Amino acid sequence: MTTASGKTMAERLAVVPGSFDPVTLGHCDVIRRAADLFDRIVVGVAVNAAKQALLPVETRIALIEDSFAGREDIEVSQVPGLLAEFCRQRGATAIVKGLRGGQDLGHEEPMALVNKELTGVETVFLAAAPVWGHVSSSIVKDVARCGGEVSAYVTPAVAAALAEAFGRRQSVQ
Ligand code: PNS
Repeated sequence: MTTASGKTMAERLAVVPGSFDPVTLGHCDVIRRAADLFDRIVVGVAVNAAKQALLPVETRIALIEDSFAGREDIEVSQVPGLLAEFCRQRGATAIVKGLRGGQDLGHEEPMALVNKELTGVETVFLAAAPVWGHVSSSIVKDVARCGGEVSAYVTPAVAAALAEAFGRRQSVQ
């Protein structure tokens, strides 16, 4: 990138990390808003040791790629280990996370501080849009597991992947 005075500026890249099991429309909103603030976004699909994932990491990545098809500024990548180290290797300016209120903040604040101590990477929090404040991957999976309608919370491709994972047939429109 070149400024008006002819200086070259480094691209400002942010990592939007998560388990994305599966990606929800709330996640997509945060990713889109992060892309408005930074030159380039890497959506980092991490393996959370505390959670048993429903969908394989390759599927989770493919579903996010599908949601952002045609967006050259948004890349999707697996985070193979420590998030802070991934950010350092990618030259990320910041981690961006969405916050759905005080409970999320209580969980995320220590992680942000540890990540800063590990490699110096800053975390930027975006307040979740109220319309998505109650939506999480866990709730969506619960509803889908019991045969409920999830189309208000995820893309048709994600709804189909959930239906398949729970052994139900569903066509993608
Ligand atoms: O809440 P999520 O979506 O499951 O988030 C997963 C992840 C890994 C992004 C979150 O737990 C995090 O930010 N962890 C920081 C610590 C780390 O680097 N974990 C990777 C495990 S080796």
